[in-house]
Amino acid sequence: MSIANTIRERRSIHRFSDRPVDKELVLSLLKDAVWAPNHGLREPWRFIYAAGEAKDRLVRCVMELVEGTKMRGWDEEKKAKFVQTNLAVPAYLIVVMPEDPRPHIWEEDLAAVSALIQNFQLLAWERELGMLWHTGDYIFNRKFREMAGVQPGEKIVGVLRMGHFDEIPPARPRTDASERFTELS
Ligand SMILES: Cc1cc2nc3c(=O)[nH]c(=O)nc-3n(C[C@H](O)[C@H](O)[C@H](O)COP(=O)(O)O)c2cc1C
Repeated sequence: MSIANTIRERRSIHRFSDRPVDKELVLSLLKDAVWAPNHGLREPWRFIYAAGEAKDRLVRCVMELVEGTKMRGWDEEKKAKFVQTNLAVPAYLIVVMPEDPRPHIWEEDLAAVSALIQNFQLLAWERELGMLWHTGDYIFNRKFREMAGVQPGEKIVGVLRMGHFDEIPPARPRTDASERFTELS
């Protein structure tokens, strides 16, 4: 498959199948993904993998945190279904970067880690491993960070929910780049 096709065909996956994620596959994809551009070759990333019980603990922590916000006003059945859907995510990969106090370094590092994550998503897609790049207020929560082993001075760039899938969601169309394109004269 061409790079263009992989870029266009990759979708964020919200519903995963029961098929377990192979940790060795994740690691081998990361070994390619780290060839992302990164200024000064700082390689400003670190990966925290969680599956099984460890992942369930993180999911339960997030569920407690969103109980008073996202889940406010939901009936018990809807809450239970939401928790179940979240527990069914086979694995998490939390991608973190060091938070450099110098704004230009911070920005370069965030850009580099984002490039790495997209590399990883595309490589995973080719192997039929789907993911959802997830964020939210909880990534700043002390309890979640501690449970995930995120160190002080590190920023979570993405909580990648990973798993195999049976269905590919429909694409949401993109604006043609020509509409955002100007040439200075
Ligand atoms: C930095 C970043 C954060 C994201 N956070 C979330 C999120 O918290 N929840 C979610 O459902 N999707 C999240 N997404 C996925 C986008 O919603 C998704 O890429 C977009 O809807 C386009 O769908 P596609 O990836 O299938 O093309 C995030 C994507 C990025 C790049």
